[in-house]
Amino acid sequence: MYHSAMSRLRFSLDRQGAQSLPEQIRSSIADAIRQGHLYEGARLPSWRDLAAQLGVSRGTIKAAYDRLNDDQLVISKGAAGTFVSSALPAAPKEFAAASRLPLPDLYQDLDSAPKLFQVGVPAQDGFPFKHWSRIMLRCSRQAVAEPLRYPDPRGERVLRKEIAAYLAVSRGLLCSADQIIITNGYAGALGLTLHLLRLNSRRVWVENPGYPLTGHALSLAGYTAVPVPVDDQGICVEQGIALAADARLAIVTPSQQAPLGVQLSLERRQALLAWAQEKAGWIIEDDYLSELQLRGQATPALASLDRDGRVIHIGTFSKTISPRLRLGFMVVPASLSERAGDTAAALSPASGLPGQLAVAEFLRDGHYLRHIRRMKRLYIQRRDALLAFMGPSASVNNIAGLSLLLPLDDNADDVAIAEAAKAFNLAPAPLSPWYATHTQVRKGLLLGMTNLSSPALEEGYQQLAELVARYRP
Ligand SMILES: Cc1ncc(COP(=O)(O)O)c(C=O)c1O
Repeated sequence: MYHSAMSRLRFSLDRQGAQSLPEQIRSSIADAIRQGHLYEGARLPSWRDLAAQLGVSRGTIKAAYDRLNDDQLVISKGAAGTFVSSALPAAPKEFAAASRLPLPDLYQDLDSAPKLFQVGVPAQDGFPFKHWSRIMLRCSRQAVAEPLRYPDPRGERVLRKEIAAYLAVSRGLLCSADQIIITNGYAGALGLTLHLLRLNSRRVWVENPGYPLTGHALSLAGYTAVPVPVDDQGICVEQGIALAADARLAIVTPSQQAPLGVQLSLERRQALLAWAQEKAGWIIEDDYLSELQLRGQATPALASLDRDGRVIHIGTFSKTISPRLRLGFMVVPASLSERAGDTAAALSPASGLPGQLAVAEFLRDGHYLRHIRRMKRLYIQRRDALLAFMGPSASVNNIAGLSLLLPLDDNADDVAIAEAAKAFNLAPAPLSPWYATHTQVRKGLLLGMTNLSSPALEEGYQQLAELVARYRP
């Protein structure tokens, strides 16, 4: 930890300068402490290490540390080392903690456990902690014992083989391990795909409403997201053609549209594939929930119907195991697999060997399918409890993925309700921000169903209902 903190410090020592070397070192460290670059409790390097780094004698460093100690900026704890004092004067204002992180909304709360109605996270109490820790321990040991050479940037072959087998059985998708690249979740796969495709057109169809981070990612990468309406059959392909005939990429969630939950109909699947084939375009299939479908049977992946090699299928373990894993994968058509491997190697090689090995073992030994089955049962119970609680105002038709959509009047302020709900420790997601700006917007609240537990649900739902009533226009 201290190495990264100290390595940011610039020691520009002037050996001919008027100030002595210990004084120059002392003042560099003192400035870094006062400005908050070195956090309270940070360990300073040993005399020997810093002396070697700066090319000075150990006595010089000792003299600098002694003065810092005299000024009560550091504390020497003998053999344990020298630490930045934990009772420092207040940091200047500009370093005070900001109330909002410089990150999209999804990442504003990085520390607390999922709240009631939180969307997009698995059940905290459904995670197989003991079993998973045992597997991780074993896989961490195995990873440490591997030779110290670069791993395959596409990800470990054992994992890619297991994913290929899983996709064949569960998503109707037949591919080889060479078509699979392990990524940092959906987000990592999307970044890689945008680098890989070399698109001539900067315009890209996205679903409206759709996952906000997809549109944001496109704009950061220099593309223009063209919002294409979604109806009860999924994305309206004809409207996409009318709105942006020059687009050569469409990003869709065919199995369970995010956030409305509709399945892309067979007719629309065929229309989308025909469009891609005719235009030599591409389709990114965001299969974020995989087979975690609470109603009926999960539909096979869109990529399973792709005869022309136009679909890039992206899967993630964020919903089925844990978003903390940051592990996902993409399946590219065989014609792209070489370029995909090259791009991954140069721009975003697969990371985290222990996690990859653990997921491979989880899949290989049948735990993954069993875990998904258990999660489905749990989520169906929670869904039914919520529906029973809400009474006739809600129905299974309002189920959207792992959330229940509570529709609100067009002039209701869903964002304000969600904001006010935070005070009660509730985290429903407003629907309107999932729509593109300047388009027709539906209002509503998405109530995540994965983390509902009985006593909390009763009180929480009551509070939410009161808030909705209070904000009624
Ligand atoms: C539509 C959609 N796609 C993808 C993801 C997950 O992405 P990642 O694998 O980066 O966690 C989410 C998460 O909420 C999502 O809602």
